[in-house]
Amino acid sequence: MDGKLRDNDISHVVEADRAHVWHHLIQHAAWTGDDPKADPRIIVEGRGMRVWDQKGREHIDGVSGGVWTVNVGYGRERIANAVRDQLIQLPYFAGSAGSIPGALFSEKLISKMPGMSRVYYTNSGSEANEKAFKMVRQIAHKRYGGKKHKILYRDRDYHGTTIACLSAGGQDERGAQYGPYTPGFVRVPHCLEYRAQWDLEGEDYGIAAANAIEEVILAEGPDTVGALCLEPVTAGGGVIVPPEGYWPRVQEICRKYDILLHIDEVVCGVGRTGTWFGYQHYGVEPDFVTMAKGVASGYAAIACCVTNERVFDLFKDDATDPMNYFRDISTFGGCTAGPAAALENMAIIEEENLLENTNAMGDYMLDQLRSLQDKHAVIGHVRGKGLFLGAELVADRATKEPAAEKMVQAVVADCMANGVVIGATNRSLPGFNNTLCYSPALIATKDDIDQIVSATDAALTRVFG
Ligand SMILES: Cc1ncc(COP(=O)(O)O)c(C=O)c1O
Repeated sequence: MDGKLRDNDISHVVEADRAHVWHHLIQHAAWTGDDPKADPRIIVEGRGMRVWDQKGREHIDGVSGGVWTVNVGYGRERIANAVRDQLIQLPYFAGSAGSIPGALFSEKLISKMPGMSRVYYTNSGSEANEKAFKMVRQIAHKRYGGKKHKILYRDRDYHGTTIACLSAGGQDERGAQYGPYTPGFVRVPHCLEYRAQWDLEGEDYGIAAANAIEEVILAEGPDTVGALCLEPVTAGGGVIVPPEGYWPRVQEICRKYDILLHIDEVVCGVGRTGTWFGYQHYGVEPDFVTMAKGVASGYAAIACCVTNERVFDLFKDDATDPMNYFRDISTFGGCTAGPAAALENMAIIEEENLLENTNAMGDYMLDQLRSLQDKHAVIGHVRGKGLFLGAELVADRATKEPAAEKMVQAVVADCMANGVVIGATNRSLPGFNNTLCYSPALIATKDDIDQIVSATDAALTRVFG
């Protein structure tokens, strides 16, 4: 005994974590007492669809790393090897210069995004969205004397954690206590038909929800509105799949008023909904597409703000003007590990036909959750696209009164205690943190999905009877 701690002394790790790590989205008071059951959770290892915690307990991961990120699953040695090789060759150089993986990944990415042409590298979803906001503002200054600067965002959507992204945030509980906010962001209504705002159905509903955006544009003045920023399928706001008719009308409105369309694919991007990008289900032609989580499945930090050539041209059309380029840098946008990992990630999705699997398994999971709805009155609505699904819980099916957030969290906790990780909307929407969220890795099998759904079934019985 030399008194030194061994590298695998996990109890020391737990104590170090308890003493010094400030976890995301967590109230820490429960971890400061003597209750050993109240240890912070540490995830030690992952393989495929499964992770193991500090007690060696196995969990099937129904949410791809907690926040819909690890799209190709854990333990992919070929991604790790590609990152290792790249780090040895060149870990970093500022993004004013190019890199081999940066160039090759941009080419590969653009090949999946007809109509788009330029990739701006950065390192988080929030930052990618900030880049698009800055580009919109610079275009307003350049072409419209600063007037066409407003950015519309939608109720229940989320675009990130920075002050500007929260200014574009449609989730009031997430934003509460962090104001004052950045001016020039204007909210439009959400499009969730289950929580209808118009007495219409199906395509008529979708068109009405899009027309509500036009009403906001007209009220603000079309010459003041520069861009509209939307999630293709709303994620943390309750997994909201837009109704038929919504997207074509949105596109029409943007064209009519010369408004740039910014699609936030931070969650949907790179396979999650069964297409490379969520907007591709709807035939939309965006001006900006931002993406992050699934781009390298969390194996390295990478985010991208992708534009079409029309936008890019506006930043190079007059080389005699010293201000006429995008005067922006993201230090870690120059890390080469991100694009090196992203190249392998995309190759895995192609070689293993994971888009096909996502569509097939997504349909299967939707059916399974709908069967659960027949059994549990507390499930008011099931929705989803690909392996991106939600089950909205209600206290009363007729009135659609939302189930209490505490009860929804109890379902999540029960699944966790039984070795299945699922998610739920939380502290986001006042009174509406009532949707269970599912986003298993794109490699999920029927057996994996059966385990996730049957844990939910048992948890609903235990919590709601
Ligand atoms: C739709 C959407 N956009 C942007 C973000 C922000 O991404 P990040 O946490 O990488 O900054 C998130 C994060 O959950 C998101 O869900």
